[in-house]
Amino acid sequence: MKNYIIIKKKIGNFQKKFIEVEGDKSLSIRFVLLSALTKGKCSAINLLKSEDVLNAINCIKKLGIKTILKRKKTEIFGRGLFGLKFKKNLTLDTGNSGTTARLLCSLLIDSNYQIKITGDKSLKKRDMKRIIKPLKKFGAFFKSKNGKLPLIIKGIKFPRPINFTENLGSAQCKSAVMIAALKTRGVTKLKCLPSRNHTELMFKNIFKIPLNIVKKKKYEMININGQKELKPFNYKIPGDISSASFFIVLTLLSKDKILKIKNVNLNSSRIGVIKILKMMGGKIKILNLKKYKGERVGDIIVKSTNKLNSINLSSSYNSSAIDEFLLIFLVACKCKGISIFNNLSELNKKESKRLDWGIKILTLMGVKVKKIKNSGIKIWGQENLILNKKITIKNYLKDHRILMVSVIAGLTLGGNWKIYDKDCYKTSFPSFKGIIKKLGAKIE
Ligand code: S3P
Repeated sequence: MKNYIIIKKKIGNFQKKFIEVEGDKSLSIRFVLLSALTKGKCSAINLLKSEDVLNAINCIKKLGIKTILKRKKTEIFGRGLFGLKFKKNLTLDTGNSGTTARLLCSLLIDSNYQIKITGDKSLKKRDMKRIIKPLKKFGAFFKSKNGKLPLIIKGIKFPRPINFTENLGSAQCKSAVMIAALKTRGVTKLKCLPSRNHTELMFKNIFKIPLNIVKKKKYEMININGQKELKPFNYKIPGDISSASFFIVLTLLSKDKILKIKNVNLNSSRIGVIKILKMMGGKIKILNLKKYKGERVGDIIVKSTNKLNSINLSSSYNSSAIDEFLLIFLVACKCKGISIFNNLSELNKKESKRLDWGIKILTLMGVKVKKIKNSGIKIWGQENLILNKKITIKNYLKDHRILMVSVIAGLTLGGNWKIYDKDCYKTSFPSFKGIIKKLGAKIE
């Protein structure tokens, strides 16, 4: 069977006026892992059923947690903060998910057995030192080659609270420390660069843990008290802004179109993509904004435009758009002028080296692009860019976002695309292809 997608035609008129995207991935994985630590039955509506989240569910099942997955509702029966069933010779496979691998280690901080954590080819290349370092301070023991998966972790009966400075702006690293802190007797003091704040919002709004968060220059200081018990909870997971972004850019870059994307998580630490695209001239509006358990949720309306301008982006926006940069690079290709993005070294530490892949894809498209010092990128935009080349995308470690951005490029800018590993969008967004087709795209 063929393992590629072919795109030969730009998308025509949209067959639908509005869409909904699936549940937020960050919130879904946090729901699964944190539910396992509560005492009782938790339920989620609209949990993302992507491969990353299903891998997180398989991991907690192996730790003795009962789960019931239905189409709309997912139930997880937590066994308490100290109730996971650790066993000898247990291997937990986290697949492609960095979030699951890194946060799961914190759940094991009190394991009395050695547990092996592994993942797929892409995840085995990613850095785990960023969580090994703080988790060792809590008292855990680790064995790994160069801080990569597979690794072995053995916990400690009474994890110690720690002081730690997180200098990467990584939400996964921050969250790993925060979750491990729950299992200590005392106060963990975390100093961190800003990154998505879903864990803080869940701790405060769901578990009613009083977090004292103080801003000091570019850092946030968070104090987390150890807990005895977490109460079970119910959650409605809003749509994923990272998934919605593919359709924002699909609409922006095509002709005479308008699209509403309903019920999207618009947490201010996640909407960098909207702010950046608006600064570039994107016609994007937010409607029906509401608060739900600390998260902001609303609808997005986007219109096509042929008047996009280049940008010299301040890196203060980087963390709030970290998963959307490939799409932003694509928009920069169709802008008037030269765009510059700085300090994006973290992009090369994702499911694939996304900064390098951005440069590779744009080069294949015939767009002038250059890597600049301090891991930045310079893109020479062309307002009237139309592709009529053959472009093949392969060997990209099945990075879901590379596949989806290539599909959007083909459907908006033209060209003859052959994109290998045709199913890897299921890692984060299983309904991606279905929505694209319902909107009217011809993809084989
Ligand atoms: C995530 C944090 C981000 C992001 C990832 C999901 C999370 O990574 O890229 O897709 O759920 O915490 P960082 O750890 O680099 O912030």
